[in-house]
Amino acid sequence: MAIDVESRPAGSTAPNPLRAGLDSGRIADPCNVVFFGASGDLTKRMLIPAMYNLRLGDVLPTNFGIVGFSRSAKSSESFRHEMKEAIDTFSHSGEAREPLWSDFANRVTYVSGSFDDTEAFRSLKKQLDANDEQLGTAGNRLYYLSTPPGVFAKIVHQLAAAGLGPREQERGWSRIIIEKPFGTDLDSARALQTEVNRVFDEKQVYRIDHYLGKEPVQDIMALRFANVMFEPIWNRLYVDSVQITAAETVGVEGRGGYYEQAGALKDMIQNHVVNLLALVAMEPPISPNADHIRDEKFKVLSALRPLREDDVPRLTARGQYGPGLIEGKPVPGYREEASVDPLSTTETYACVKLFIDNWRWAGVPFYLRSGKRLAHKHSEIAVRFRGIPHRIFGEAGDQIENNTLVLKIQPDEGVSIRFNAKIPGQKMHIRGVTMDFNYGTGFGVVSAPAYERLIADAMRGDATLFTRWDAVERAWETVVPILSRWADSPIVDFPNYLAGSQGPQNADALLVGDGREWRRI
Ligand code: BG6
Repeated sequence: MAIDVESRPAGSTAPNPLRAGLDSGRIADPCNVVFFGASGDLTKRMLIPAMYNLRLGDVLPTNFGIVGFSRSAKSSESFRHEMKEAIDTFSHSGEAREPLWSDFANRVTYVSGSFDDTEAFRSLKKQLDANDEQLGTAGNRLYYLSTPPGVFAKIVHQLAAAGLGPREQERGWSRIIIEKPFGTDLDSARALQTEVNRVFDEKQVYRIDHYLGKEPVQDIMALRFANVMFEPIWNRLYVDSVQITAAETVGVEGRGGYYEQAGALKDMIQNHVVNLLALVAMEPPISPNADHIRDEKFKVLSALRPLREDDVPRLTARGQYGPGLIEGKPVPGYREEASVDPLSTTETYACVKLFIDNWRWAGVPFYLRSGKRLAHKHSEIAVRFRGIPHRIFGEAGDQIENNTLVLKIQPDEGVSIRFNAKIPGQKMHIRGVTMDFNYGTGFGVVSAPAYERLIADAMRGDATLFTRWDAVERAWETVVPILSRWADSPIVDFPNYLAGSQGPQNADALLVGDGREWRRI
């Protein structure tokens, strides 16, 4: 029998009373999921374990099939074997269990072929038609492009040519999940969009940003729109500034080739961090409908003050890590990583100060930063409120701090509020204290990896947590002047921060001039 992992408190087999009476989330439509790039790292580490855990949690439809497609020649049998190893190694629920695994494995097949090979796509069609017959998958197809971005357009074209596009199909639905990056700049993103639209309508396209599948990111909306006490002060009258941080301790993890072309601005800020900004700054949507939410996110991005290239040096900073210590262990600098140019000028740290020119946020700076090999893995959104308007405590109030609300995304997931309180004692002394809410202890569950939620949503046809084209385009428009100015300005001081540090010193200049400072990572 399937175990509803979501309903169990961490490490326990007893039902979780906090979930009693909640909808199980089971997906109704039978369907096939095709993973392109099936031999890749993401498929092994994340996607197949996610599918298995969705099955374990009884979320998958009763009738489902999985087809792996990639260049490496192998049989379905050896693909299943590799996928079992992947689950045993990477699944958060531990090793694959019987009899569940055997039932799961019977639904997994593999088609090998190059993305140029029309014949291989015809074989894929045969396999999918066979699955419809044998597994009862009713012609419904979810394609997941987890390949290098250079072949996205080619795959989309081949799907249509082999009669696998939504417009060719006789029954059922087709949807496509596209991994990031969607384009490498504004022009290439627009060109890709044109190609994708030749085959899929926007409603059938699911651009994945795994940050949006993280529980605390989804909770931003719950915090803002399921409570009455935050919204009245969520504006320029009460908010002093907002800092959004996505800091990592890892380096480029063997992805030097890709990262050399990307850099921190494209890899993290243009997508994950900008999406966080949109969620924290948007107006309340009129309903939880995907387009109502995405309309509001788009409006925020449309209100971002365009950066002029001349402003780039004042409003941004970049850095690259040199050798240093992470958790006490020596690590190489970026230029010493595999597949990285020893004179590379790619940034591994980026920060930018943005303004949202609308009624709610006029004049409030949003400071965004992301970097690799920083002191801690730490992602958060910190909303800092203005100071009190009048001080009545004299010296006793010297340590009064601005209130801060922190939405903690990872590794701790929760919310913390910093406010001022009297220190117990005869005299009036006031100091900042922190009140913490933690999802793990609060709800007694460990959050599932983002990919589980996102794949399940795409199977359900819920695009809320996926990025719509207009938002992707706006995000590119926002970073293009930075990329262009950076490309034109020579870098003399890279590497300019030590691995394991708080990042480059030049990042401080962005805030110091405003009388503020970065929160500690
Ligand atoms: C990916 C980036 O999108 O996000 C990686 O390409 C980065 O460079 C990763 O390491 C961070 O994701 P997470 O979930 O570990 O914060």
